[in-house]
Amino acid sequence: MQSSFPFVPDSASTFSGDVDAVYLYISGVTVFFTALISLVIIFFVIRYRRRNPFEIPRPIEGSTKLETLWSVIPLFIAMSIFVWGAKVYFAQYRPPKNALEVYVVGKQWMWKFQHTTGQREINELHVPVGRKIKLIMATEDVIHDLFVPAFRTKADVVPGKYTTLWFEATKPGRYHLFCAEYCGMNHSGMGGWVVVMEPSDFDNWLSGNANQMSPAAAGQSIFESLGCASCHGANGEGGRGPALLGVFGSDVALSNGQAVKADEGYLRESIMNPQAKVVSGFSPIMPSFQGQVNEEQLLQLVAYVKSLSTARAETPAAPAALPTPSPKPK
Ligand code: CUA
Repeated sequence: MQSSFPFVPDSASTFSGDVDAVYLYISGVTVFFTALISLVIIFFVIRYRRRNPFEIPRPIEGSTKLETLWSVIPLFIAMSIFVWGAKVYFAQYRPPKNALEVYVVGKQWMWKFQHTTGQREINELHVPVGRKIKLIMATEDVIHDLFVPAFRTKADVVPGKYTTLWFEATKPGRYHLFCAEYCGMNHSGMGGWVVVMEPSDFDNWLSGNANQMSPAAAGQSIFESLGCASCHGANGEGGRGPALLGVFGSDVALSNGQAVKADEGYLRESIMNPQAKVVSGFSPIMPSFQGQVNEEQLLQLVAYVKSLSTARAETPAAPAALPTPSPKPK
């Protein structure tokens, strides 16, 4: 689907209007001042041209009034661009809490998506219209950048950390998705489609692809095969290592006296580089799992730990100090 303006991609997310408005404003200011300054230059060239070879111009005194004016007006114009742009930026880069999460792994040269219900996709992402979607993104190799022009949003995918991107599509359709960071030979081919569907079509699509293991379930089997249970307990109830039940989203006290919010990035770091933030009351005995799990498996482990939080939230009767083993997610 194309926009009615030439060269402008379709506008299909809740951000599109805001981004286009800022863009139009900046373009308008630029065109206006380019025209104004050009006309003034031409006028002055003609008006103050040298009329005879021996002409000596009248000396010019400075004008405080004029200088103040041409400093203050541009200041206000520049600040209006900054404030408005920052407002739109912060709305985009603060992911909402109640979003539908999708895990994304970029690698040379494809995009891999996995829904929390298990469905996997390559270079294609199906999402329902009118729902907030949050992408939790990692890369297997170099920096990539997920860009959906019709949604007016993009974010880098950076080695060694998670980045997020969120959007809410406003109309069903197929929208181009690109890699917007040069990442090697086939960078230009690293693209695909976001397929925005009516919620009922999306549910049908989900159930038609339902025979795949959820990331949390896959994470649980990795948790078991790597022997994490020997310290963290078979159900994450803790032991020599900190309990994992309910840890996601909580504030964790560290041995250095500081506290950290247990988000995806913290879980990731604690698996790859466990000495970086040791939980208060525990010794730094955990080995690094760098090189033993790939980005996809790491996301699955993170999804498993997150599911442990959900499991505890469903059994609020369990005392916080002695969490009872919760049922394993199916
Ligand atoms: Cu990935 Cu360019």
